[in-house]
Amino acid sequence: MAETVELLHVEVWRGAAEGKFQAFNVPRQEHQTVLDVVTHIQREQDATLAYRFACRVGMCGSCAMVVNGRPRWTCRTRVSEVVGRGGGLRLEPLRNFTVVKDLAVEMTDFFDKWRDAKGYFEPQRSSHDTAQRDFAVVPPDSAQRRAADAGIECIGCGVCYAACDVVGWNKDYLGPAALNRAWTLVNDMRDGGQDGRWKAVSGSAGCHVCHSHMNCTQFCPKAIAPTYSIAGLKRAMTARVFGRRN
Ligand code: SF4
Ligand code: SF4
Ligand code: FES
Repeated sequence: MAETVELLHVEVWRGAAEGKFQAFNVPRQEHQTVLDVVTHIQREQDATLAYRFACRVGMCGSCAMVVNGRPRWTCRTRVSEVVGRGGGLRLEPLRNFTVVKDLAVEMTDFFDKWRDAKGYFEPQRSSHDTAQRDFAVVPPDSAQRRAADAGIECIGCGVCYAACDVVGWNKDYLGPAALNRAWTLVNDMRDGGQDGRWKAVSGSAGCHVCHSHMNCTQFCPKAIAPTYSIAGLKRAMTARVFGRRN
């Protein structure tokens, strides 16, 4: 007698801003991830399905989608974590991004905001400065180093940005990932771009727009807490206004 294959019912967003859900049935596999399901659909059932991934191991940040109503990285999300007995999957593109097609979104605005928040390292010292050739020594147990380390493993997946209601209301808001990145650099004693960074994060699209409602922190797959990074920016900014060092 032929073995019965258990099928998973999957609804997938098709289209861009306008579109509709399309239903598929996908064979269940042990330890199957949500990304495995999408890949099966694209390879075996509909080659026109658009989605994005690269590493499959939680490093590149490109596979995030809304899975049963919640933004997640799909390569590290097992179907068994999100689907109960008899349940199915509903897959949508990340919210707060422009949809390119199906499950693929345009990330340009998201990364432009990292740039706008001065979320890049600006060295204080030139490599041509022969008197300063040694590596900078950053004490691993200093408060600043620990604050920077807490946010440094961000993979740019956009889950926090998709989860943030304030980004939905205010398209100019720099958002949790860019502000978290700025906070890691505020705490980098080697960085020489602090004045420009403070100007960037204190503006009308900066850290004071955050309502501290924690969605970003709740959903970040890397267990980063952008809410606390943004709170750190707010505290340090107040300290700067009153003339103390951050
Ligand atoms: S804590 Fe701030 S950045 Fe995070 S989701 Fe809420 S409003 Fe957005
Ligand atoms: S802070 Fe977390 S959720 Fe946001 S982009 Fe970085 S890794 Fe993704
Ligand atoms: S495919 Fe790279 S993080 Fe998921």
